[in-house]
Amino acid sequence: MTKKAIPLPKLSGFTERNGHWYAEEIPLADLAKEFGTPLYVYSRKALTEAYEAYDRACVDVHGKRRARVHFAMKANSNLAVLDCFKKLGAGFDLVSGGELARALEIGADPKSLVFAGVGKSADEIAQALKAHVKCINVESIAELHKINRVAKELQCRAPISLRINPDVDAQTHPYISTGLKGNKFGIAYHEVLKTYREAALLSQIDVVGIDCHIGSQITTTAPYLDALDKVLDLVSQLQREGIEIHHLDLGGGLGISYGEENPPDITDFTNTLLNRVAERGFGHLDVVLEPGRSLVGNAGVLLTKVEYLKPGAEKNFCIVDAAMTELMRPALYEAYHSIVPVQRKAVKSSTYDIVGPVCESGDWLGKDRELAVEEEDLLAILSAGAYGFVMASNYNTRPKPAEIMVDGNHAYVIRARENINDLFATEQLLPK
Ligand code: LLP
Repeated sequence: MTKKAIPLPKLSGFTERNGHWYAEEIPLADLAKEFGTPLYVYSRKALTEAYEAYDRACVDVHGKRRARVHFAMKANSNLAVLDCFKKLGAGFDLVSGGELARALEIGADPKSLVFAGVGKSADEIAQALKAHVKCINVESIAELHKINRVAKELQCRAPISLRINPDVDAQTHPYISTGLKGNKFGIAYHEVLKTYREAALLSQIDVVGIDCHIGSQITTTAPYLDALDKVLDLVSQLQREGIEIHHLDLGGGLGISYGEENPPDITDFTNTLLNRVAERGFGHLDVVLEPGRSLVGNAGVLLTKVEYLKPGAEKNFCIVDAAMTELMRPALYEAYHSIVPVQRKAVKSSTYDIVGPVCESGDWLGKDRELAVEEEDLLAILSAGAYGFVMASNYNTRPKPAEIMVDGNHAYVIRARENINDLFATEQLLPK
């Protein structure tokens, strides 16, 4: 029985023309030749279009801004990527002191920063308060008290929102589902009101918002509306108690197509959520959106070279120079990424598992793929712009790849390839 072919995702920054793949106006083969492989390549056009699709819905028919996009930089935190979004008007969602440092490095307005994360350290909280971020999203009562303590030491006030765990099933991979009561994230729904009351009494805390993020790679709107309704119910109750909420942070999580998925259109999706906020009488609240993957996922590819074709007893292997160290998603979530030859060739095709050189059987990038390739050919692993480079590691002492941003017919190195000597430059031998 032949397997149903999985379609390629729809891409705007990468196209195939006469059997050759391009990033905007530049052949991918030229980039590989100039910068080597493995190589991350991003398209400025694609990330701009995705941002603008959100932004169209963020402004209502009267031109009034009703929501703001805070790019979840955990998806791709390269400074050039962040700077492109900043220039488009984005704020940022951060989850560590390191991400805060990146935002400050590109000169992001601190008031455009929301600081999330389930285990912020006292140091990270202090950094965020000193930087005057817009809001710290609090995930537990213990954290609330720690923030109050740190703010007291710094003699400042801490603007906070509570992250609600709405107990909604986002119907996504269990590792990236965050809004169920069994997940480590957020404050249990039945404890939220009590926690807000407690927050309102703390000396250094200013309650400014409420937030919720139910998971990632979500391909339907229904769980968002369920979570939103539950959050708005809480806002009503808080209002009745005189606890004022100024902004509503709906998190990120909208999925992209890696091939088979058919997620909602970004503008339609955003309109649906924002219309529900208005219909329920909360149009006066500022809304924060924290998309990551849907802004960058399909704006990047990973280029890799075929090292060996290895026929096996049960399987044929196509061994490439990228690995789980460059793109961890298949190994970690059994995630599917389309993989295409960068230049179409008239050679016999075979079914391959595409694997890397790392010493793990979990080191694979694609399984059972029909490919017409020879050694030294280039492959492009599509939809690699989100949670690609940022999850890369140096396992097996492999240097991290370079990153390139293409803008029309210009290619910019936005991160140089790591140098092997740098990988152990901070290590020390014992004296004897
Ligand atoms: N806001 C919060 C609080 C988050 O935890 C996340 C993602 C986002 C926003 C952005 O979600 P997005 O729009 O990108 O779905 N490494 C996984 C994804 C982990 C997502 C973690 N949180 C993957 O490769 O699929």
